[in-house]
Amino acid sequence: MGDPVRWHCLKNTDAVAAEALSRIQHAAQQAIAARGRFSIVLAGGTTPEQVYRRLKDSDTDWSRWFVWFGDERCLPPDHPERNSLMAHHALLAHVPIPADQVFPIPAERGPQAAADAYEPLVASELPFDLVLLGIGEDGHTASLFPGHQHPDDRLVVPVFDAPKPPPERVSLTITALCAAGEVCVMVTGSAKRDAVQQWRQGVELPVAQLKCPAGIDVLLDAVVCEGIIPDGE
Ligand code: 6PG
Repeated sequence: MGDPVRWHCLKNTDAVAAEALSRIQHAAQQAIAARGRFSIVLAGGTTPEQVYRRLKDSDTDWSRWFVWFGDERCLPPDHPERNSLMAHHALLAHVPIPADQVFPIPAERGPQAAADAYEPLVASELPFDLVLLGIGEDGHTASLFPGHQHPDDRLVVPVFDAPKPPPERVSLTITALCAAGEVCVMVTGSAKRDAVQQWRQGVELPVAQLKCPAGIDVLLDAVVCEGIIPDGE
């Protein structure tokens, strides 16, 4: 197995977005050519929004895309803090992906009911072609937070008492997130430096649990890399 974690230091947030964009476009082209379909898991938060805005101008057969979410906040579907609404405004409202091929997490139902409803759907799709993730200042990824325990046999879990608001969320587990041809983690901004440093020092942060069969690619901007990731690594 190759390097489990491949670190890619890029000039700035723009370069991170451009790199993520080209990886998604390449993975889509490969998957559609090979299997006639492309399944992607979208990340939440603010970092990927720029990628989604650029992605809408891609030259691809959108009718072959299947869109999933790595996590969601338990808020009404039209709440501005919903990851699904961010993705809708930045990408999904602008491209002809059939509505029944977009799978928002029904987080408005509450953590447990939403997780139980999403689990069999995810099970029917695995493996994904590409999973996109972010990382939080505390080393969380998706809605998997430090100190939270989740059963190993689940693909989707309810989250309570999340330190990042809102406290109630739903998240794919490491098992589901790693069941992918490609896993890409986007990391921008100085606030993420400590988490990356700890991750590289072997601290068992949630993001460090991503020991995926295909390995993972971490796209970082120079502000994060400086003094932490040696040039040319
Ligand atoms: C969420 C996200 C979360 C996010 C990180 C980074 O719903 O909050 O899925 O895991 O990716 O918190 O967030 P930013 O990109 O906004 O820094």
